This record gives sequence, structure tokens and C-alpha cells, in this order.
Amino acid sequence: MTFLYKADPQRGERWAELFAEKAPDIDFHIWPGKADPDKVRYLGVWEPPDRIAERFPNLEVLFSVAAGVDKIDFSALPAGLPVVRMIEPGIVAGMVEYVLWAVLGLHRDMPTYRRFQEERLWKPLPLSPAGGRRVGVLGLGELGRAVLRQLRTLGFQTFGWSRAPHVIEGTMCFGGRDHLPDFLAHCDILVCLLPLTTETTGLLDKNMLACLPRGAALVQVGRGPHLVAEDLLSALDSGQIRDAILDVTEPEPLLPSDPLWVHPRVTLTPHIASMTQPDSAVDVVLENIRRFHAGEPMIGLVDKAKGY
Ligand code: GLV
Repeated sequence: MTFLYKADPQRGERWAELFAEKAPDIDFHIWPGKADPDKVRYLGVWEPPDRIAERFPNLEVLFSVAAGVDKIDFSALPAGLPVVRMIEPGIVAGMVEYVLWAVLGLHRDMPTYRRFQEERLWKPLPLSPAGGRRVGVLGLGELGRAVLRQLRTLGFQTFGWSRAPHVIEGTMCFGGRDHLPDFLAHCDILVCLLPLTTETTGLLDKNMLACLPRGAALVQVGRGPHLVAEDLLSALDSGQIRDAILDVTEPEPLLPSDPLWVHPRVTLTPHIASMTQPDSAVDVVLENIRRFHAGEPMIGLVDKAKGY
């Protein structure tokens, strides 16, 4: 019985150690490796190989090593093959840290103070309490809900949007495309944590950015294609958006000529908001293998029709 890992090989070394320690009955191989394709029951991927069905006739579960599964083309997979995305405590904790850093920084006007510093300008701005700041999260999955929990603890007014209605205590939730403009109108700081699907591609365009209160800020930790970058640049230049913190772009890496690199109101990080932590991820993968064989629902099982 083999688990074949096809993602960052360096991190794969740690996965291999953990499998050897926690599941010695499973042969763990790092792609391309020397695994017998007939023995591969589990495949862990960031970008899957092509012709999965022909290569691995006995594959039972496809694991994504990332929370997002947008690199996986479901139409190229055998219909009955379960796909599981990565929901593990380490990735949730990393995302919470990044979003809190970004929201607190925007809340406390850090990008403005950075610009002031460059001008040697000593200029205090009024300080508004967190309770007067409205923060909205697009996407109410595990990550979105964990982020909202901490934002509430810090005293922010919180709002959430998802394609389907949700009830979250202490957060006003909006469901469905029709209610998106209304949700956006409540966001002084907007955090995008959506999965990338055909429905969410290009969702943050000039019409949606125009629904935000004037001078709102954006934290983009979803996927690059959610955002129409040229519409963001216009919104930054017009003052509709005051600052944007982007961890994801299209393409990645961002092209050297891209104007986002040098825009004074854009802070860029290279898709590091969160990363799967092997130590906690392997526990979840092994628990899912157990659940799979026990016929119990797996954590992070993807609904292929929805795309996440
Ligand atoms: C990272 O972007 C992930 O999807 O885990």
C-alpha cells in the first residue's frame, strides 16, 4: 500500500519521516520515486500528474496538500475518485496570523505611516477603536470562520459572505450573489478567502469594488484570479480603495513588469499567508485514510460539482 507525494520535495522529506513514524505499514514515496504504480492507493498533490486513472489503476483517494484545489481538473479524474483538500490546524493557524496582521495593520493605518516615514513626516492620525471598524470576510469555510472568530475577539464588527446562507454567532452573514453588494457596503476592510471556481473567477471587479464604502481596504488571500487587477489599480488611484494587501496574484510569480509591484498603496507577499504544516497535516491525512476505510466522512472531502 503506497502513498505517493507529488508536491514540494523538501517538505516531502518531513512527510516521509512522519509517515515512517506514524504509519509504517504505508510505503511513502516522493514523486517521481520508484513506487510501483499498481500499489499506489493514495496520491498527495499540489499539481496532479496527467492520466491519473491510467497511471494508477488502484488509486483510492486523491489528497490535495493545499487548502485550494483549483490546480486539479476534476473532469480529468475518474468520477468515483474522492478528492480531499487540506483542512488541518497548521494551515488554519497560519491564515489567522496573516489576516490578523493585515487587518490590524490596515486598521491602525500602517501603510499610511509607512508612506509618512518615507517623507520624514511626523503626523499622528486619529485613532478609531476596533469596535468602530467593520471587517468582512468573503468565504465562510474553515479558514474564514477561524479568521472571523479572532476578529470578533479583537472587538471588530464582523460580516461574512458565502454562496450559501450561514449562521455565525456574532457575525452578520449574507448569502448568495444577490446579496454581495449589500455585504460589500458593510466592509471597511474586506478579506477575500474564497475558493477559486468558475463562479468566483473575476468576482472582485470594478462593479464589486465600487460597492465598498469609499476608502475601504482589501486583503486578498484567496487566489489571484478572483481579482481583476486593473480594476483594483483604478480603484486605488481614484481613492475608492485606500490600500490593498495581496498575497496572491495572477500569474504567480507576478511578472516583473506588473504595476502592482510598485504601486504605493499595494503591499505584496509571495503567496505565503499560510502553508500546510506537515506535522499536523499528516495526522489529518492518516485520520482520513482511517475514515475512508471505515466508511466515515473524510475531513475536507471536495464536492466536485461545487469545485471546493
Ligand atoms: C495555499 O494557497 C493553499 O491552498 O493551501
